[in-house]
Amino acid sequence: MSSKSSERKIITILGLETSCDETSAAILSEGRVLSNIVSSQEIHSRFGGVVPELASREHIRLVTKIVGQALQTAGISADDLDGIAVTHGPGLVGALLVGLNFSKGLAQALNIPFIGVNHIEGHIYGNFLSHPEIKFPHLTLVVSGGHTQLVLMPGHLNYEILGKTRDDAVGEAFDKGAKLLGLGYPGGPEIDRLAKKGDDDFHRFPRSFLKGDNYEFSYSGLKTSLLVYIEEKGREYVEKNMPHICASYQKAACEVLVDKTMRAARKYEARSVGMVGGVAANSLLRSWLAEQSAAAGIDFHVPAFEYCTDNAAMIAMAGRQRMQRGEHSPNDLNAYPALKLSN
Ligand code: KG4
Ligand code: ZN
Repeated sequence: MSSKSSERKIITILGLETSCDETSAAILSEGRVLSNIVSSQEIHSRFGGVVPELASREHIRLVTKIVGQALQTAGISADDLDGIAVTHGPGLVGALLVGLNFSKGLAQALNIPFIGVNHIEGHIYGNFLSHPEIKFPHLTLVVSGGHTQLVLMPGHLNYEILGKTRDDAVGEAFDKGAKLLGLGYPGGPEIDRLAKKGDDDFHRFPRSFLKGDNYEFSYSGLKTSLLVYIEEKGREYVEKNMPHICASYQKAACEVLVDKTMRAARKYEARSVGMVGGVAANSLLRSWLAEQSAAAGIDFHVPAFEYCTDNAAMIAMAGRQRMQRGEHSPNDLNAYPALKLSN
C-alpha cells in the first residue's frame, strides 16, 4: 500500500484522526507533541450511540477548524509541515473519508507526502508517545469498544496478532452489561466505579476460553450469563447488590485478559507488556496487569490518559515511524472500515 520515498527529512508532522466520533488534529515535531486537539462530537449522545452519517457531517464541519487550532497551538504554519499522517481504517467509512480527503488535498497543496495509518497501530504508538523506552519484544493488549486482541511486536512496525475476540469486544461487554444493569453509556467507567465498592466473589460469571493454549477471546457468553442472572434474581435484588454484581462481572471480563496476556508474555519472552484502547482505563485491569508483570520481571506500560482515547497525536507518532523509514501513501489510497494491522 505504501511506497518508498527518501527525498525529504520528516521532522514536523500533522496527524489527523476522524475514524469515529472524535475529530482530532495534532502536531508532532522531533517526536514531541506540540499540540493535540480533540473535539468529541456531542450530537450522538441523544441517540445512545454513534450515528455514522452525523459523524461524517460533524467531521466536515470541524476538520478545517481543528487543524487550524492544532497549527496555532503548536505555533507553526502549514508551510512548516514535512508530512501528514491520517487514519484510513478501521472505522466508519464516511468519517474516515473526511480526514483522508482533507489530508490528500493539503499534502498536494503543500507538496509534501502523506501516509495512511491504521487506527490500531495508532493506539499502539500512543504508548510509545508516553514511553519511548519501551523494550522489544513488546506484547500489547488492545482493548476498546471495537477491538480485543493480543499483538506481539518483535520490533517497530512489526506485528504478529496472537489472538483476538471471536464475537464481542471487551468494551462492548462492559457497555452492553451496563445497559442490562440499567447503568449509563459508556458502561465501562460506571462498572469500574461501582465495582470498587463491591465483593468480586459475590457471583461467579463464566470465563470463556480460559483454558487451552490459544489467545482467542469471547465475550458474548458473559453478557448472556448476566442477562439470565438478572432475569433469575429480579430487579430489586440486582439494584440492592449492584456494586457486588459489577465487581463480579468486571472480574470475569478482566481475568481472561490478564491470564492470556501473561501467558503470552512468558511464552514469547516479552520484555515489556502494554495495554492500549479505551478499556485500558479500567482500574482493575491496570493494577492486575501491573502486579503480574512486576512479579514476572517484565515492564508494564499504559499510555497517558490523553493518548488512551482516540486522538491524532498517536496517529502522527505511528505515521512518523513509517515516514522515517521512507514510506508514504499513493494519491489513490482509500479508506477501509475493516483494515487489518499489517507490517
Ligand atoms: O478506544 P475507545 O475510546 O473507543 C473505541 O471503541 O474505539 O474505547 C471505548 C470503550 C467503551 O466500551 C468504554 O465502556 C470502555 O472503553 N471504557 C472502559 C473504561 N473506560 C472506558 N471499560 C472499562 N473500564 C473503564 N474504566
Ligand atoms: Zn480507538
